[in-house]
Amino acid sequence: MSAIAKDKNSEIFKTGGKYLMPTYSRLPVVFTKAKMQYLWDANGKKYTDFIAGYGCLNVGHSNSQVVSAIKKQIENIIQPSNVYYNVPQVILAEKLCKITGFGSKVFFANSGTEAVEGAVKLARKYSKEKFGQHRYKIISFNKSFHGRTMGALSATAQEQKQKIYQPLLDGFDYADINDIDSVKAKIDGNTCAIILEPIQGEGGINVSDNEFLKNLKALCTENKILLIFDEVQTGFARTGKMFAYNNYGVCPDILVLAKSLGGGMPLGAIVSSDEISSVFTPGSHGSTFGGNAASCAAGIAVIDYIIKNRLSDRAFNMGKYFVSKLSKLKMQNSIIKDIRGMGLMIGMELSKPVAAELVEAALSGGFVINKISPSILRFLPTLVISKRNIDALIKWLALNLKK
Ligand SMILES: Cc1ncc(COP(=O)(O)O)c(C=O)c1O
Repeated sequence: MSAIAKDKNSEIFKTGGKYLMPTYSRLPVVFTKAKMQYLWDANGKKYTDFIAGYGCLNVGHSNSQVVSAIKKQIENIIQPSNVYYNVPQVILAEKLCKITGFGSKVFFANSGTEAVEGAVKLARKYSKEKFGQHRYKIISFNKSFHGRTMGALSATAQEQKQKIYQPLLDGFDYADINDIDSVKAKIDGNTCAIILEPIQGEGGINVSDNEFLKNLKALCTENKILLIFDEVQTGFARTGKMFAYNNYGVCPDILVLAKSLGGGMPLGAIVSSDEISSVFTPGSHGSTFGGNAASCAAGIAVIDYIIKNRLSDRAFNMGKYFVSKLSKLKMQNSIIKDIRGMGLMIGMELSKPVAAELVEAALSGGFVINKISPSILRFLPTLVISKRNIDALIKWLALNLKK
């Protein structure tokens, strides 16, 4: 790489393309600095972030409280190994049990997909031990996304993501969100759990109805089936409450968390009751790095920051403001077909497949936005975003949607 290169973005981009496996459609910009809702590229250009590391940075990029908690921790101990308790892991587990309301035990992983794997194992082990070996079947939902490892991918009911890696894990079946009859049709004597994102993220920002979630919970109780909520994307104040299920008054039996929990550090978690968790005996599940002291120190700072700064209320109010502005834009632009979401998890569906063009054009305008399909844009900003930031993006969209 030339040290005197003028366009540092394209130099790094070129070298990255040479040495990294092409698993992502990388955009032609390289971010080298970030603070709260802003990013700067290798040339020093500033951007406002409306995707927040795919929903990992609810408390903002390099949030000073998260940074100082990590710094303090790594100077003492980073990775004591899970044969020993580590202090931040214990404190964070207690905090998660308190804020989830229903949880009394936590298992820590490194990512969303790994936490989903753990939840699937926990549900199967509990159900097999309690009701018999035949109880292994898991129902998930069409258009869901639960991760890329083989178990989580088997729960991810998207054909184009699954088909190249078949055969997948046995024992998964798929129903439709907001269609309780489709769930009833899939339940049989072998069903042990249902896994759902209360609001599907990667699948298009598809919001569960209140009635559907209530009926789903009742169906699970009636059939002694565990209800797993995957709140990897919806958790930590994103939807206007600490967890999306708080908006519905429906509690899961097992909760899967990741993304914003670590404030940018790799961290995932499973939360459940004492009764269910008791089947995870020594040796039945584990992780070398899961719940390492540095990531857990970040997690503690994240939760404290969210509570102290009332980020749930902020996500609710800013989300309302953002949606009202987008709805106004919709009235003036026939290309906008639908606006949907909850809090600061918002999808904008277009009548033409121009999302990729808009994402790239937005970079020139100093905005980082995201597409989840050729015609759906997704906005998952940091929860510290301001009305001024939203107004600026709306102004840019108003000009560029017309083009
Ligand atoms: C709902 C949901 N579950 C699981 C995952 C997988 O998380 P990770 O990429 O950390 O493995 C994602 C990632 O986008 C997600 O949105």
